[in-house]
Amino acid sequence: MSSTLTVTGGAPLKGSVAVRGAKNFVTKAMVASLLGETTSRLRNVPDISDVAVVRGLLELHGVRVSEGAEDGELVLDPADVEVAAVADIDAHAGSSRIPVLFCGPLVHRLGEAFIPDLGGCRIGDRPINYHLDVLRQFGAVVDKRPSGIALSAPRRLRGTRISLPYPSVGTTEQVLLTAVRAEGVTELRNAAVEPEVLDLIAVLQKMGSIISVDTDRVIRIEGVDSLTGYEHRALPDRIEAASWGAAALATGGDVYVEGARQPDMMTFLNTFRKIGGAFDVDDSGIRFMHPGGPLRSIALETDVHPGFMTDWQQPLVVALTQAQGLSILHETVYENRLGFTDALVRMGATIQVYRECLGSTPCRFGAQDFRHSAVVSGPTRLQGADITVPDLRGGFSQLIAALAADGTSRVHGIDLIDRGYEHFAEKLAALGAQAVRDEEPARV
Ligand code: EPU
Repeated sequence: MSSTLTVTGGAPLKGSVAVRGAKNFVTKAMVASLLGETTSRLRNVPDISDVAVVRGLLELHGVRVSEGAEDGELVLDPADVEVAAVADIDAHAGSSRIPVLFCGPLVHRLGEAFIPDLGGCRIGDRPINYHLDVLRQFGAVVDKRPSGIALSAPRRLRGTRISLPYPSVGTTEQVLLTAVRAEGVTELRNAAVEPEVLDLIAVLQKMGSIISVDTDRVIRIEGVDSLTGYEHRALPDRIEAASWGAAALATGGDVYVEGARQPDMMTFLNTFRKIGGAFDVDDSGIRFMHPGGPLRSIALETDVHPGFMTDWQQPLVVALTQAQGLSILHETVYENRLGFTDALVRMGATIQVYRECLGSTPCRFGAQDFRHSAVVSGPTRLQGADITVPDLRGGFSQLIAALAADGTSRVHGIDLIDRGYEHFAEKLAALGAQAVRDEEPARV
């Protein structure tokens, strides 16, 4: 059954919340444990459902996963990695995109792998063609079946020269997780260099890999014969941190985000300041404030790192509905990440979505007729509404809108938000929000 949050909006969010390890790193580091001969320890792991999904998949493959002594510590023991039953793996079909990253490690360990049809947020087609192309380049045989994809390797995977058509985060991680145990050297051009990718490289180096990150998005990996486990503290979740910052701005609030780290959020902070938000950075986190007075409209284009993250876009759009004038948005990472604005329009926002590229960042979508640009006209008062969240970040954006709106909103399907925001209902309560979760009213 899906959960609903009843939100009475209009009050500024005020107080302090803590962010833990980044969802988009932690889940990959958990997969990396499959490559070690010994136990790994991962710290700062958030209690979110995407972590539970990956844990379940690892356990199906024989990895023993347990809680460590520290809160948020996972101990991953890969001593008995084994082939999992296809039916069991199938039960995870549609729940996450992480299974595709099991391919390289499982092929190295077992000579074969099977991955179910993938899930993840519906923010575009999200194909896995780059993943399959690079796996083939390493020498894997890819067999597409009705329920998923079976991979095998007639002999040890071999290092190769790869040039990605686009700096895809997941495909870069696929290459890293495969190349570290392949025979010989792999050169990856046009790689993603997001902080989460670099933290995965740090983990793989601790395990015994030889990886260099060169200029111009080139990564070189020298394959080795064996790897050990690792001990690592995950980098903080800069998407969650920015989401709370955006919520503070949209509600006219003042939120201290413990754990937020400035170097990973430079581009967000610049944009936050341009809109008229204020922030203070100290050794333990970042305080995000609405300083009073009008917010300013901006032109915003999402891009790969070090550009403005696509995942920051959705939460920040609500603050743009409160800014004076026309803000122009160009989404260049996903072709279909603006659907969440329909609900904001129903709540009173003035947002027009366009198929044209409204910006100069090179983009693959204008010529293909995708609705990937928007003009937001503000400021507009928002009214509470009945909303069903469409995806993780779009859902959090709509939740921010409900918090900023006059009156009461019913936000349905918030289990999707549990995928990436740890204990968000409790955090909302700590910030003074009136938000009651249907199934667990005692928790808020
Ligand atoms: N793409 C292809 N073919 C592929 C792979 C990607 O065409 O085989 C395209 C995608 O469709 C997209 C673009 O390349 O248009 C970029 O996709 P990328 O591979 O970089 O994304 P991802 O690895 O699937 C991760 C995060 C996303 C985040 C993106 C971009 C995880 C689990 N997911 O996705 O996070 O938006 O990188 O930074 O790490 C989220 O947390 O809500 C989320 C969607």
